[in-house]
Amino acid sequence: MRFRRGDFPEGFVFGTATSAYQIEGSALGGAGPCHWDTFAATPGNVIRAEDGARACEHVHRWPEDLDLVRDGNFDAYRFSVNWARVLPEGRGAVNAEGIDYYDRLVDGMLERGLQPWLTLYHWDMPSDLAMRGGWTNPDVAGWFTDYARLVMGRLGDRVTATATINEPWCVAWLSHFLGIHAPGLRDIRAAAHAMHHVLLAHGTALQALRADGHRDLGIVLNMEVCAPASDAPEDHAAAARQDAIFNRWFLEAITQGTYPPEALEGLEPHLPRGWQGDMAQIAQPLDWLGVNYYTRRFHQAVPGQPWPSSREVPGTGPLTGSGWEIYPDGLEQFLRRTGAAVGDLPIHVTETGMAWPDQIVNGAVGDAERIAFMDAHLAAAGRAREAGVNLKGFFCWSLLDNYEWADGYDKRFGLVHVDFETLSRRPKASYLALADALTRRP
Ligand code: FCB
Repeated sequence: MRFRRGDFPEGFVFGTATSAYQIEGSALGGAGPCHWDTFAATPGNVIRAEDGARACEHVHRWPEDLDLVRDGNFDAYRFSVNWARVLPEGRGAVNAEGIDYYDRLVDGMLERGLQPWLTLYHWDMPSDLAMRGGWTNPDVAGWFTDYARLVMGRLGDRVTATATINEPWCVAWLSHFLGIHAPGLRDIRAAAHAMHHVLLAHGTALQALRADGHRDLGIVLNMEVCAPASDAPEDHAAAARQDAIFNRWFLEAITQGTYPPEALEGLEPHLPRGWQGDMAQIAQPLDWLGVNYYTRRFHQAVPGQPWPSSREVPGTGPLTGSGWEIYPDGLEQFLRRTGAAVGDLPIHVTETGMAWPDQIVNGAVGDAERIAFMDAHLAAAGRAREAGVNLKGFFCWSLLDNYEWADGYDKRFGLVHVDFETLSRRPKASYLALADALTRRP
């Protein structure tokens, strides 16, 4: 691996990331059901109808997993709390076993010298709230704020940084317009409501947490390069619409309190009445911003089809095991673009990584593809930093092979291989290369 810690300044944070539903085992420890449990139990939604009931059994095996983070020479561990583990019905009665578990997990990080980076919502909407409309119900801002205050009341004194929501585009658009993630809706009005309410929930919770005295509060946005499929002006316009939906909607709302006209042209008729009155609440001051980056996609205009009147066409570059184009320059572009939008606010790459069909061969997992991927993306992050972006950290997705949502256990993103029969963990070559690189200073 070319990368070494000394390429970045002293104090730059290197971490690895996971999320609760993807690793913990949602059937364990008294968690309530969430919408992923029922989405997965409905035929056709997830490969082999796999769910997170057992996953990596992290809820029992967390000490071993935190040892892996420490022994990988990382500084920080980004994890999430499963809402339904803490509040099985989403509100009301607390599952003491659940909140105690997170308490021990955070202490376990501190004992190992790791910074705890908490995400409050990484997609596990409790089923009781999902049945009341989940992200389409305006009450979700209040439900989420109550839950956030409860978790932070217990963990907030020891976490280094807190994100309200992971990837609002996935929460809203992927899940309510494209129908690919839970709850699997394909409805523009539901999508528009979710696009607004997810941001309102972020702003409302952030304001309440700040009033409670918490600091180091932020949000994690995913960004994806939306490129035109050809030089035709219609394809440029199609790509601009997708860029407005995917990237600008969230970044401009939280930094300026506005939505981009290219997205409003399709979504405004479907937004909740009086949405304009919420924009100041959404644009709360932040302490940091997380950027997740994976790929670039190409968009082609489809005249005559309903808004946004476009479809995706395959790119030409090398692909990961998920079929996502490997395009490290996109990370540099987004960090520069985000830096220009947020000025001095600290930015962190909170996720990047790739799926590959890694196999154990003669007791080892050689994932040269992932080493090259991480090298290229760390270099891209370094270029953005040298260009003046206030980039302070970089987290690899993911510590472990895990439940990759609609792809089930098919796509392996881990630095550590997991055998889903025995649940034994085995560091891959990329983990070992990073562990070594993180000790190397010039
Ligand atoms: C991101 C998600 C994460 C994981 C990676 C591959 O969009 O935040 O949970 O699924 O993609």
